[in-house]
Amino acid sequence: DLYREFNNLTELGNRISDILKVKEVIVVKGDVSKEDYVFNNLGSATSKIIDRILQDGDKIGVTGGRTLSAIAEEMDLSVKRENLTVIPARGSLGRSAGYQSNSIASKLAQKLNAEYQILPVPDTASVEAMKMLMDNQEVKEAYEKLKNLDILIFGMGRADVMTNRRGTTEDLREKILSDGGVGEAFGHYFDIEGREVYHSQSVGITLSEFLKIPNTIGVAGGEEKAEAIISISTLRPDMVLVIDESAANKIVDIR
Ligand code: G3H
Repeated sequence: DLYREFNNLTELGNRISDILKVKEVIVVKGDVSKEDYVFNNLGSATSKIIDRILQDGDKIGVTGGRTLSAIAEEMDLSVKRENLTVIPARGSLGRSAGYQSNSIASKLAQKLNAEYQILPVPDTASVEAMKMLMDNQEVKEAYEKLKNLDILIFGMGRADVMTNRRGTTEDLREKILSDGGVGEAFGHYFDIEGREVYHSQSVGITLSEFLKIPNTIGVAGGEEKAEAIISISTLRPDMVLVIDESAANKIVDIR
């Protein structure tokens, strides 16, 4: 039965990969909205992908969120790598401690025996504040490393949920949503076709930097994230997606 289940999930992943036209889609059993352990399923599946591609000297970027926190928890390499650095891909001081990209980067760095570069900026800094922050050596260093990531592991969120969580003003939130924003990743908001409708001004990777990172892995679960996943999957056909069964089934339904 386990064998059959594995085959079914593999088949579902291949089907999603055809529908979304992305290179590789891993589907894990369950629904994160119903059971917490499904986050760990996403985490261990992502850990296996990292274990497959990671090389000595790599710089790994991570975003924040519940999903990314589970990835850091589940990370387990079969072979040790040397000289790794983990960097938060966005500022995030406003979030609950465990789900900040900074905490996740630090936890992941421990698991990988890697250096950890802090990015000490809030997620919602204004343009003026950003100019001042860029004078800070640590911010500058993190920012330079972010331009040269080898791997980015990022969470995908719903635009409506993420605008609430990031403390976006009501006007801006309405603008993002009325412009068709459905998905959010690394502080950028996209409509269902993958057109960027807004990005936060804070320090973090830009869309054009994202498009140049050799390995990108997007992770999300829950059927409510189906549209967000569809929207973000259009950004790069060579990204790897790790999603749960409920998101996968919903994507099949709507496409
Ligand atoms: O950008 C999207 C968010 O990082 C997703 O956060 O894993 O808590 O849903 P979450």
